[in-house]
Amino acid sequence: MKYKNNISTAVSLTAALVIGSCTSSFAATDWKIAGGDSEGSSQHAFGLKFVEQLEAKTNGEYTGTLFMNSQLGSEQDTVVEAGLGTLDFSILAINNVTPFSPTVGIFTLPYVIQSLDEAELLTQGEVGAELVENTVKDAGVRIVGWAYTGFRVLTNSKQPIETLEDLQQVIVRVPKNEIMIDTYKAWGGNPTPMAWSETFTALQQGVVDGQDNPYVTVDAMKFDTVQKYVTNIRYIFSIEPLIMSESVYQAQTPEVQQAIVEAGKAATKHSAEFLTANEARIKQQLIEKGMVITDPANGEKEWIEKATTAVWPKHYDSIGGKDKLNRVLRLLGRDEV
Ligand code: MLT
Repeated sequence: MKYKNNISTAVSLTAALVIGSCTSSFAATDWKIAGGDSEGSSQHAFGLKFVEQLEAKTNGEYTGTLFMNSQLGSEQDTVVEAGLGTLDFSILAINNVTPFSPTVGIFTLPYVIQSLDEAELLTQGEVGAELVENTVKDAGVRIVGWAYTGFRVLTNSKQPIETLEDLQQVIVRVPKNEIMIDTYKAWGGNPTPMAWSETFTALQQGVVDGQDNPYVTVDAMKFDTVQKYVTNIRYIFSIEPLIMSESVYQAQTPEVQQAIVEAGKAATKHSAEFLTANEARIKQQLIEKGMVITDPANGEKEWIEKATTAVWPKHYDSIGGKDKLNRVLRLLGRDEV
C-alpha cells in the first residue's frame, strides 16, 4: 500500500513538473508600463485597454503590468529609462516628452489644438506619424498609442482667477517644458517648473499655489483636496502618448510588433471614448466636492493674444520651423501665420 502510494505520489509529481515546465515555456512576457497619473485617470483607462488587447492579440503570450502614480519615477525620467531600454513602456503627458524630442512641442504650443476631434486628426494622421519617427531618432522611444485627456485647466488654492492680473497673485507649478514656462511668462505669471511626481506634495505644503491639468487628471490625482479654484482655460488640449523602448520594440518579431501597434490603436480609440463618456461627469463631481469653476474674462481674449504672439514665434525653431505650424493650421482649417 505504502509502495503504491509512493508510486502515485511520484506520478503526480512528475505530472506537476511536466505541466510546470510547459507552463513556464508558455509563460507570458510581462512588460513594465509606467504611468504618471493615478488609477481612474485617462492614462490608467488607456493602459488597461492596451494590456487587454495585447494579451488578446498574442494569445496571452504577452502582457503588461501598470505601475501608476509615478512609481517608476517622474514622467521625464521614464523617457530616459525607456530610451536606455531599462523600462519597456511609459504613458505620460506629451509635454514631458518634448525636452527629449522637441518637435512634439507642436502639441503643447498654446491654443493650437482646440478639440478632441482636432487632437485625433493630428495624432492619427501624417503629423503624428512624423512625430513617431522623430521620437525614435531623438530619444530612442516609439509612440505606439495616444491617450486624450481634455483641456488643461488652471487650479489654485488661493482665489478665483479670471484675468491675467489675477494670475499674478499665485505661484503656479508648470512642467519642465520651455513652451509652457514661456506661456506663463507671456501671461505675466509666476511659473515654477517642477516634476509631475512632486506636484501633489508641493500643492499640499503650499510650496506652490496652483497647477494646470485636465479635469480627469485633477479628479484622479485628488487635487480637489488641496485646490479650490478652477479657471476654465483651454490653452493646451492634453495628449498623452504610450511610448515604448525602441530597443525592446526592435527585439520583437514582426507579428508581436504588429500586435503592439494594433493594441495601441485599440487603446487610442478607447481613450477618446473614455474622455467623451466621463469628462462632464467628472467636472460636475468636482463642483459637488466644492471646487469653484470660473471662466477666463473676455472669452480668454487676452490670454490667447499674449500666448500666441509671444510664444509661437519663439518656438518656431524648436518645433522644426514655422512651416510645421502652418501645416497643422492648414490641416485644422485655420489661417496660416
Ligand atoms: C504634467 O503636468 O507634468 C503632466 O501633464 C501630468 C500628467 O501626466 O497628467
